[in-house]
Amino acid sequence: MYTKEIEITLLQLAKDLLRKLQQKESITDLDETLDGLRRVIIYNDWRYYVQSEPVLSDYEYDQLYAWLKELEAANPDKVSADSPTQRVAQGLTKAFPTVQHLVPMLSLENSYDADDLNDWDRKAREISGLDEIEYCIEPKFDGASISLIYENDRLTRGATRGDGVSGEDITTNIRQIRSIPLSASFATHGIQSIEIRGEVLINKNTFKAYNEQRAADNLPPLANPRNAASGSLRMVDPREVAKRGLEAFLYHMSYHTMEDGKTEPDEIRTHSNTLDMLSSLGFRSPSKQMKIVKGIKGVIDYVLAFEKERDSLPYEIDGMVIKVNDYALQDKLGMTTHHPRWAIAYKFAARQATSKLRKVEFQVGRTGSVTPVAKIDPVPIGGVTVGSISLFNEDVVREKDLKIGDTVLVERAGDVIPYIVKSLADLRNGEEEDIKFPTHCPVCHEPLFKPEGESVWRCINLTCEAQVVERMIHFVSKDAMDIRSLGESNVRKFYGLGIMKNIPGIYKMDFDKLAELEGFGKKSLTNLQTAIEQSKSQPLHRLVFGLGIRYVGETTAKTLANAVNHLLDLREWTEEQVLALEDIGPKVAGSIQQFFQTEDNIHMLQELEALGINLKSTKADHPVGGSLDGQTFLFTGTLNKLKRSDAEAMVEEQGGKILGGVSSKLNFLVVGDDAGSKLEKAKKINTIRILSEDDFLNLMQSPATEQ
Ligand code: IVH
Repeated sequence: MYTKEIEITLLQLAKDLLRKLQQKESITDLDETLDGLRRVIIYNDWRYYVQSEPVLSDYEYDQLYAWLKELEAANPDKVSADSPTQRVAQGLTKAFPTVQHLVPMLSLENSYDADDLNDWDRKAREISGLDEIEYCIEPKFDGASISLIYENDRLTRGATRGDGVSGEDITTNIRQIRSIPLSASFATHGIQSIEIRGEVLINKNTFKAYNEQRAADNLPPLANPRNAASGSLRMVDPREVAKRGLEAFLYHMSYHTMEDGKTEPDEIRTHSNTLDMLSSLGFRSPSKQMKIVKGIKGVIDYVLAFEKERDSLPYEIDGMVIKVNDYALQDKLGMTTHHPRWAIAYKFAARQATSKLRKVEFQVGRTGSVTPVAKIDPVPIGGVTVGSISLFNEDVVREKDLKIGDTVLVERAGDVIPYIVKSLADLRNGEEEDIKFPTHCPVCHEPLFKPEGESVWRCINLTCEAQVVERMIHFVSKDAMDIRSLGESNVRKFYGLGIMKNIPGIYKMDFDKLAELEGFGKKSLTNLQTAIEQSKSQPLHRLVFGLGIRYVGETTAKTLANAVNHLLDLREWTEEQVLALEDIGPKVAGSIQQFFQTEDNIHMLQELEALGINLKSTKADHPVGGSLDGQTFLFTGTLNKLKRSDAEAMVEEQGGKILGGVSSKLNFLVVGDDAGSKLEKAKKINTIRILSEDDFLNLMQSPATEQ
């Protein structure tokens, strides 16, 4: 969609606009400025959301976006429907009207092994009379299917699949998904109107971060990325949809009309060409992951090999879809009422299993929440043995009608936590027992409370041992103070032995006593001591997160750390002042205020400061434009201009992190001479940006921010 030349022109345009903005130059031509801003923003959206390679930093992007909004607000007659500002809708959607699909959205036939695929291929060859068929293979995305209609290059409708014949009109929500262009130049291919289909997904990292926030808000996590995607698409507030970080892959053209007198171009005579066309028009299509092969043998080899890569992808796939590539041949094969004969899904090994629910234990968390945890007969699911599953709260247990002794269906999507889908009530023999909820804390035996309108039972005894230990475990954890050698089991052990009693106790441990313990050699104690010492100078936001204030997740912790000079300043803040901070609602503000009005908490913070822990806001707490906050890096091969340790320090200085290996969590791989297997592995994960040493040095001068 963008040639190299156009990309260079757009980058130059972006720089010119940023310069004009900074130098407050007056605008000579309003139309030209508006057009320039829109083109640059749409271009960066495409780089960011489709290519995963933004060219502007978040800060630069936000500046240009704010300028465009300001100019449009002052000149409302100049606002165009496909302006990037028009994605964000105001107000709530009352209902989603039902709309008919232009072509029914059929399902796919499933296959599970080579025999199934051979049978399917044999039938297709019999009907077509061909000896060998050309197939296009692509991932089967595990999300929510959508249909999009573009007329005269403009997105005019977005709908859910519904029952396949009619779905719900969710156009406003679809417009919030930044990888879906609001306009696309189908006219350059002679196409007047078109319906395309695809899948809306939430990538694994976004899903994980979302659930972490829900956990901080004491809400049960969403079961899996698929449910999260389909739920997000039907939310009544489009502004909420915009926050969910949805992505879309478009993989099917179901209908199109040509402009008057135009004949079908070559690019829409095969499925693979259509995918290429969609990519070239700015959509995210599986054109990079697809493979074209002749004959079913190649199909079988490819799907088996791809299954092994399943977990390294940033989003969930539950199989592969094999499609006859040539449209004329697809027409010849036709369809049944249920599925096309020209396509088949190959389903990967299920990540579901059944097991027996043996008992339910009740665990007390750091905020006193009492969580029921199901103990099942251990079963392997997707390469991991599952024996314990959180049931979140009483409502979940009641809704799922679970009983001790039930056979339960368990699912685990990729690296997502396992959950119980349902109990198989038909298999009951009458000996199953109801799950009884405790009235008293299982640890400190104080009575439990359930606040009005909440589904979670709570132990409100702040000195309850379970809470104290859980708070310490949270405090030392990776995303909080990151005291590496002091993991969960050591915290429990040291607490049990009376070596540390509370959070300040971590910094007052008697190392002579530790040296007497079995399994603690000199080296491990030195490591532990260094890690504890280093944690004292962690940026403030990590301490704030580590305190485990109710409803305060990592994002809110950063907002707070950014808003103060010294953490104890918050003692003087009113609830209204806290509420005025970005993205902090009344519930969160109330909890923060309560924390800083509680004498015990203030004493603890004063004690921590006296022990040398940093309570001041540092550079790392202030997200400035171009910082590498949250970005992950890995170096491989020999660097020529920099020492590796210096390069790593440069990343960390700007808030980035160094990872130990290549995985979907990695954002940048910096490649020196003679790079080996890390590079090969990174090439297979298309969200990783591969940089040369020079690229890296350029980036350090003007850091870009990844997805
Ligand atoms: S093609 C007429 N391609 O899988 C055929 N479907 O189990 C249209 N899906 O309803 C579907 N990835 O929601 C196709 N690459 C892909 C897909 C895909 C996921 C979904 C789709 C469909 C379901 C059938």
